[in-house]
Amino acid sequence: VTPGSLPTGLLADLEAVVGPGHLLQDPSLRAPYEVDWTGRWRGSAGAVVRPGDTAEVAAVLSRCHDRGVSVVPQGGNTGLVGGAVPRDGALVLSLARLDHLGAVHTRPDGGAAGEVVVGAGASLGAVQDHARAAGLRYPVDLAARDTATIGGTIATDAGGLGVVRHGATRAQVLGLEAVLADGTVLDRLHPPLADGLGYDLRGLLVGSEGTLAVVTRARLRLVRPPDHLGVAVVATEHVAAALQVQRHLADRLGPLEASELMTRAGLSLVAAAPGVRTPFAAPPPAALLVEVAGDRGVGEALSAAIAEVVEEVRGVHDAVVGTDAADRAALWHLREAHTERLAEGGVVLKLDVVLPEPGLPGFVEDLDGLVRDAGGSDAEVVVFGHLGVGDLHVNVLGLATGRVPAVEAAVLEAVVAAGGSPCGEHGVGRQKPGWLERVRAPGELAAMRAVKAALDPGGVLNPGVLLPPAPGAGSLAGQQEGPADHLVEDQQGQGPP
Ligand code: MLT
Ligand code: ZN
Repeated sequence: VTPGSLPTGLLADLEAVVGPGHLLQDPSLRAPYEVDWTGRWRGSAGAVVRPGDTAEVAAVLSRCHDRGVSVVPQGGNTGLVGGAVPRDGALVLSLARLDHLGAVHTRPDGGAAGEVVVGAGASLGAVQDHARAAGLRYPVDLAARDTATIGGTIATDAGGLGVVRHGATRAQVLGLEAVLADGTVLDRLHPPLADGLGYDLRGLLVGSEGTLAVVTRARLRLVRPPDHLGVAVVATEHVAAALQVQRHLADRLGPLEASELMTRAGLSLVAAAPGVRTPFAAPPPAALLVEVAGDRGVGEALSAAIAEVVEEVRGVHDAVVGTDAADRAALWHLREAHTERLAEGGVVLKLDVVLPEPGLPGFVEDLDGLVRDAGGSDAEVVVFGHLGVGDLHVNVLGLATGRVPAVEAAVLEAVVAAGGSPCGEHGVGRQKPGWLERVRAPGELAAMRAVKAALDPGGVLNPGVLLPPAPGAGSLAGQQEGPADHLVEDQQGQGPP
């Protein structure tokens, strides 16, 4: 199907389902749905359809299924691996209108603290505010909170800033409603607490990146908000010292609410923006941001533990502690501003990876050399990420398009060689299906393909995302290509966002 040329009969059917205002065919209306937030991933949509409820999602999917038309589900379009960007004139299914927020229920036993049912299109920030108004907290958090949607965070099993304490999105999803490729609605919003009724379809759909079904509603776990918080940023000589500080503080203070790594290049970028309060005279080689929760005395306990690490851990330069809301926000800003500051410099190659602790400092040390040797001598490397779970965001700035495949391969090979995972919390998307093959056993991949074939036999849901082409695959794989091909092809004509 070529751009803008979905079958006329289908377009008329879709318009009848959602109403004329919610089927977007005009190129200028489609445009924002055809490129991701970073400007790296681009494609073409035949049209964009914006259903208003689960029944409309089901009707849209069944009509596309009958005609074999590809569908790309899209939430807030803040993903970073091209997983929600259409290609080849596919239909974009925007979940934005499914933004219903249900009543917050507080559990009397205090176990999970509470729960709420929300629509897939509700923004993460809206859900957080809604929980907060009821005295509770939704524990997944990311800097893109006001744009990212709950459906997107479920589809990608988003980790975010609270992952070290509360786990990724998977740990928060108590129930799901989703629609299969053929329009069948699966309602597992309220499975019994002791659910012994067969396969865990809810677990299967979390992290499936829109390839198995379209999530329409979710029942989410809410937690009790912490009484008091303290944030510290510890400047260190290298990443190894930051890891030691992390261990020391967790031993001393109990579970950390957050533990985030920053490095000099990123801190310098953030500090260069007007009005930013920087705690150190000059950006240190590495810095660890930790957040801890506790009673009224949390600030003193944190300060005491920080004084200890400054004294006892080699390679610690300096540290600052923030306990009141303004100081904590200023310290968090240093970390949260990274993504936007990076994007201002043009299109960034983003590689999100996970390293086991022993190999992590050496990997970071070697990065500049790796990128240079792979042809990125003019590029700048900025690393930051969720140190508490070993998830690092490697950002390569100013890299010529032609150099992307070699640099990507060099970095991800080094991750695999260090025993890590080339796919971190950002997921697989269009960027890394080929890398999935490197780290999942053939039997596992075969099982994943069998699940895909069973739930989406026509291959209409998000083709080319997540799964690598089957060995020796013919026409079905026609829409799926290796990661390097995509990067080169999709980058053509790109400019800064
Ligand atoms: C983050 O941790 O800030 C997000 O994953 C976004 C990014 O990697 O740029
Ligand atoms: Zn992240």
